Amino acid sequence: MTEQSSNFTRHIQELDNAHHLHPFTTHHALRKKNPRVIVGADGVYIKDSEGVKILDAMSGLWCVNLGYGRDELVEAGRKALDENPYYNTFFQTTTPPAAVLAQKIAEKTPGDLDHIFFASSGSEANDTGIKLIWYYNNLKGRPNKKAIISRKSAYHGSTIMAASLTGLSGMHEKFDCPRPGFHHIEPTPCAYRFAEPGESEEDFASRCAQALEDKILELGADNVAAFIGEPIMGAGGLMVPPTGYWQKIRAICDKYDVILWADEVICGFGRTGSWFGSQTYDFQPDMLTMAKGLSNGYQPISALALNDEIGHTLINADYEMAHGYTYSGHPVAASVAIKTLELYETTGAIGEAGAEHSDYFQARIRELADHPIVGEVRGVGFLGAVELVSDKDSKSRFQPDGSAGYACREHCFSSGLIARAVGDVMIMAPPLVISKSEIDELYEKLRSCLDKTWNDLTGA
Ligand SMILES: Cc1ncc(COP(=O)(O)O)c(C=O)c1O
Repeated sequence: MTEQSSNFTRHIQELDNAHHLHPFTTHHALRKKNPRVIVGADGVYIKDSEGVKILDAMSGLWCVNLGYGRDELVEAGRKALDENPYYNTFFQTTTPPAAVLAQKIAEKTPGDLDHIFFASSGSEANDTGIKLIWYYNNLKGRPNKKAIISRKSAYHGSTIMAASLTGLSGMHEKFDCPRPGFHHIEPTPCAYRFAEPGESEEDFASRCAQALEDKILELGADNVAAFIGEPIMGAGGLMVPPTGYWQKIRAICDKYDVILWADEVICGFGRTGSWFGSQTYDFQPDMLTMAKGLSNGYQPISALALNDEIGHTLINADYEMAHGYTYSGHPVAASVAIKTLELYETTGAIGEAGAEHSDYFQARIRELADHPIVGEVRGVGFLGAVELVSDKDSKSRFQPDGSAGYACREHCFSSGLIARAVGDVMIMAPPLVISKSEIDELYEKLRSCLDKTWNDLTGA
């Protein structure tokens, strides 16, 4: 750290503390502590204003799937800014990037999810999904079929409606959410936490799915429009569903004519080893939300894919579909996304190279299971979680809840590793292009931070 860099850091922190309201932040605490100033990034590392290199095991916010320093994406964005920096898609116009990207997404999404609506964030795409479901059922002459069922611990975004889909109480209580018409079921499909002692994986999957059927029957199938779920729950604590869960959910949705909506904002684009998490789990959604990895996080762009039944109903309506955003299909964002999709293939990130490295990542993080404060290691593809407990047999947590995760995250941050703490679950979602030696570094840093956390909490 030089005097110049520390003056610069202080200057930025002062500006930030004076004027910047951060998402998901306790502001007075941040202002006391000062934000770390991130000034650059390359590969799987970010760099702070003091010159410290940090291994970003969260791919930013689960989005920089191909890593940083992607010149090809910079060039795609630059070219688009130069040629056609903006035009909207409202007034019977389109742009080549928007049209080409819609076709490329339709090609990659499973089954007949061939009708693509663009927005700028996962939350906006999910808000769009709610509105289009309501619109669809109005067009079908089913004005009462509007309720949407989600799950406790789900995360679907933070606009009013996306926060209502979300099943995290911290996002509800102080914000007058969820709004009427949104329902959250449990148990959350994570066997380590919610299966009964001795319950088989299949029985647990059936019990989770039964909760959906029970809720549909309680509300009346004529009143239930859709069920939404992340193939693997991300921000709620990386909950990996039991085998057979999604097939059972699909069967219930079919039985009651309920739309099955996959939120793939995290699970999309190679995160679970396939283009989409629904392919990894072998089920066919009727609607699918994507964002984040769609542009490698380089541009704010998201999309909602609809199947033929919903898409054709909307297309054949005699009404204007009065919904959309200034930036729907933004040509610069769409150009970067097109190049991103190409890179997933040419780099092998979604393919053999990605699979080899994700197997290695999964194998290495599972070595942490022997650590005295690790209750479970779970994950799929490039998603990994380490749940911290005070007692492995009873699975009880350190008190207060979340203190172990918080301590571990702080140790990671000061040791040059970004891992996220959701309560007492340490989460990782590294770029798909992380090398084996970088995975080793991640493993060693995390193990040493677990040791430090254990020392803090037990004095051992
Ligand atoms: C599954 C899921 N859906 C929706 C969102 C919201 O996306 P955004 O933050 O782009 O609005 C997120 C964000 O992490 C997410 O994980």
